[in-house]
Amino acid sequence: MSEATISWLSGPVLRARTCGRFHVSDAILVGAKRLLGEVIRVETGGIVAQVYEDTTGLRPGDHVTSSSEPLSIRLRPGLLGNIFDGLLRPLVAMPGDTVLAGMREAAAVPLHYCPLAKKGDEVRGGQVVGKFTTGAITENHLVPPGVDGEVVSIAGEGDYEDNEVLCVLRGETGSETRLDAGHYWSIRRPRPAVKRLPPREPLVTGQRIMDTLFPVARGGRAALPGGFGTGKTILQESLAKWCDADVIVYVGCGERGNEMAEVLNEFPTLEDPRSGRPLLDRTVIIANTSNMPVAAREASIYTGITVAEYFRDQGLHVALMADSTTRWAEALREISGRLGELPGEQGFPAYLSSRLAEFYERAAHVETLQGNEGSVTIIAAVSPPAGDFSEPVTSQTKRYVRCFWALDRDRAQARFFPAVHPLTSYSEDIDALARWWQARGNPDWMGHRRQILTLLEQRARLERMARIVGKDALPPRQQLTLLCADLINEALLRQSAFSPVDRYCSPERQTALVQVILRFVDRAVQALDHNVALEHIAAIPVLRRLQRASEEISEEKVAQFRLLMERLDEEFDQLEKREGHAR
Ligand SMILES: Nc1ncnc2c1ncn2[C@@H]1O[C@H](COP(=O)(O)OP(=O)(O)OP(=O)(O)O)[C@@H](O)[C@H]1O
Ligand SMILES: [Mg+2]
Repeated sequence: MSEATISWLSGPVLRARTCGRFHVSDAILVGAKRLLGEVIRVETGGIVAQVYEDTTGLRPGDHVTSSSEPLSIRLRPGLLGNIFDGLLRPLVAMPGDTVLAGMREAAAVPLHYCPLAKKGDEVRGGQVVGKFTTGAITENHLVPPGVDGEVVSIAGEGDYEDNEVLCVLRGETGSETRLDAGHYWSIRRPRPAVKRLPPREPLVTGQRIMDTLFPVARGGRAALPGGFGTGKTILQESLAKWCDADVIVYVGCGERGNEMAEVLNEFPTLEDPRSGRPLLDRTVIIANTSNMPVAAREASIYTGITVAEYFRDQGLHVALMADSTTRWAEALREISGRLGELPGEQGFPAYLSSRLAEFYERAAHVETLQGNEGSVTIIAAVSPPAGDFSEPVTSQTKRYVRCFWALDRDRAQARFFPAVHPLTSYSEDIDALARWWQARGNPDWMGHRRQILTLLEQRARLERMARIVGKDALPPRQQLTLLCADLINEALLRQSAFSPVDRYCSPERQTALVQVILRFVDRAVQALDHNVALEHIAAIPVLRRLQRASEEISEEKVAQFRLLMERLDEEFDQLEKREGHAR
């Protein structure tokens, strides 16, 4: 066992004189309380390390012990439905309170195990040897990547304790590996897969502006940048509740404790629309609130992504929400500052960019080692100070994500939610995802999307002009463009997270709404061409119905959109008959 003695301390970082071998990323235990830490630099005769717990009371001369193992977390069944700190240690939520209270050992829940492999089978890392049917989701018993051999013994069906040996493997050299329900994995090391698959299908979020205009692919990477109070947390929560992932890993990173407590209070009361069970059953929450140690915040997003990869390797689709990566980058900055490293832009360390790259790189749609498909999609909030998207964390993040859902301060101030700006946001997966939409009842999804964005662009231009000359001075055709773009904005893009009818919008309902709105646009343009006066078009009764359609036509009543479409055609037919030819 390698030992060291603390020579210098500053907050969560320390230097120690070493005796014996230490490696970068080794987990260490510090002081009499054996606080968990990690080696971040090795120098001649000494180490630099960060400590993941409160260092109050530590002093020079205290002992440091190396575990000679990289900092790892134990991946095991029973993570779903629970809350952990940045290093996957269980946390207890204080019901109804604003803070998360102390840590405790994981409660020993017996696991129900069904073996799938049998004695004599040859198994490889990533393969499934059994199943756990304790929780809401049946979890696989995976052979840890890198381990292989012949099954010497395997437990029969029954209830077992978490740390009981369930399967013994004999490797080629004759050495035996004993597998219990879980295994350790270093949080900084991506879990292996056979290969990456190209983006093919979207992660359906149920939010119209995202699914219809800026979809993210399963295995994709999206950033949600927005200034203070622009709706990042509410949107992340909506995505966690309604997106069609099998498992959600929610990393609350450096946000206020009360926000985290709200999530904890709300999730158990919500029902998963797919299974009818509590949403919490398919969620793992990793909380490192602003009042918790800063170094653990740095680790929390790696812990989150490692947990997400573990579920991916079981053949599941996982969505990882991180709120917010800016607080994570600030933790990097604080640690780097205390170490006296040369600061880069705005004091962030020069390696900010490579750290972000390493994190986003771990989002993927893969063929797993057991031969099926799984994915990890990252959706990361970014909180640029003063909403300035040119600051380092936002601009570096932009280099690595494929979807950029820019939250706009003006929209949020006007209480227009979600405040995603349709002209500054983008998705780079449109071409890859068009086929999916085409197969889901909207053969002209690409064309519709383009038409919507063109109208919104024209609106921005015309509004600038109208500010100078006045709206009434614009020709009727341009005024009609404004009317149509307003309809798109209000009826399609606005979607309240608190509306029981509209907080989730299925792809079918999105398509129906888009089709009826664009039919209005076409018919209105046609009516104007047939000399119907603009004020008559604007006064057509069906317009009011359209504006309220997303709130009034629920998921169960999607067929009503057809009636709305018929009514729209009838009203325009009558209008043209009455007004168009009369002039
Ligand atoms: N999708 C939404 N639907 C309805 N209201 C919303 C929505 N998003 C945000 N809001 C409103 O905006 C408020 C602020 O949202 P939120 O707390 O998510 O912002 P934030 O960007 O996370 O802020 P901070 O920078 O403080 O973390 C919410 O309390 C809510 O009233
Ligand atoms: Mg927030």
